[in-house]
Amino acid sequence: MDAQQLKAEIQALKKETGTIILAHYYQVLDVQDVGDFIGDSLGLSRKAADVKEAKNIIFAAVDFMAEVAKILNPTKTVIMPDKEASCPMANQLRAAQILDYKKKHPGLPTILYINTLAEAKAECDVICTSSNAVEVCSAVANERGVGSILMGPDKNLSYHVGKRTGLKVVTMPEKGCCYVHDQFAIEDLTLQRERYPGARVVVHPECKPGIQDAADYAGSTTQMLKYIESEMKNCKEFIIGTEQGLIDHLQRKYPALTLHSLSPVPSGISCKNMKKTTLAKIHALLLKIKAGNVKKNEITVEASVAAKAKSSIDAMFKYSTASG
Ligand code: 13P
Ligand code: SF4
Repeated sequence: MDAQQLKAEIQALKKETGTIILAHYYQVLDVQDVGDFIGDSLGLSRKAADVKEAKNIIFAAVDFMAEVAKILNPTKTVIMPDKEASCPMANQLRAAQILDYKKKHPGLPTILYINTLAEAKAECDVICTSSNAVEVCSAVANERGVGSILMGPDKNLSYHVGKRTGLKVVTMPEKGCCYVHDQFAIEDLTLQRERYPGARVVVHPECKPGIQDAADYAGSTTQMLKYIESEMKNCKEFIIGTEQGLIDHLQRKYPALTLHSLSPVPSGISCKNMKKTTLAKIHALLLKIKAGNVKKNEITVEASVAAKAKSSIDAMFKYSTASG
């Protein structure tokens, strides 16, 4: 079956089985095309909590995002086309490590990036995403009257928060990072600025500190998209420091813009974990839903872990008005 046939069958099967597809911007365009909602991690969490009609939620993203959907909407069947689609950064901080850090830094609020497993979320005070990290961390620190926080697992997001809030951020683990964004080098930025002198540089806060500092704008996936949309009347060329899926999304939506990856490699950089989800796997999963045979693809979170993780997710919604 070609992509068009797969898409047509997927649309029909979604209706027939009462299924909604939530997709991250880092998915390939063919997968974004069958998504009922495309978002960043905050937007997807808000949407997942809000799903009412559909019985099943297919999550076209990585595992920690699907776990959040299950925790927020436990009566729904949350399923992934490929359960191996796991975020390596989320696996860099386990619950036991957090307990050790808390012992070493008593009294500091523990704020985790959403890119963590449910077992880790269960051991923190509040979570945040890259869309609301600054808002959440400063609100929590103000409320507690502290100048330092414990945060993990991304050292680069910690830098972003520290720079904007003036807080001292202790990162757990010290060198945690996203292998995708951390591979952009300052030499890439210098080279791309030389090649495209009229372009603005827009980067994700998972990029290295030097890159955040040298960019014209640093923000989450949706914030980058909104920045480009708001600035496109003044500037038609952008160098983008994030996963290729967002660049492809924007290029298709705004053909008049000239967009380059911050990576000088023509294909840009991809998250191979995000890219594990394909149209063919979504189609196969919908056939399994129809046959009542989704156990192997289902996301489950143990009840006591889910209850504790839910309080840290709810706390984020209390501190953050951002929409993602
Ligand atoms: P966003 O919050 O920008 O979606 O980031 C999630 C992610 O995994 C980025 O690598
Ligand atoms: Fe994880 Fe990085 Fe992939 Fe995002 S881009 S899912 S942080 S590995």
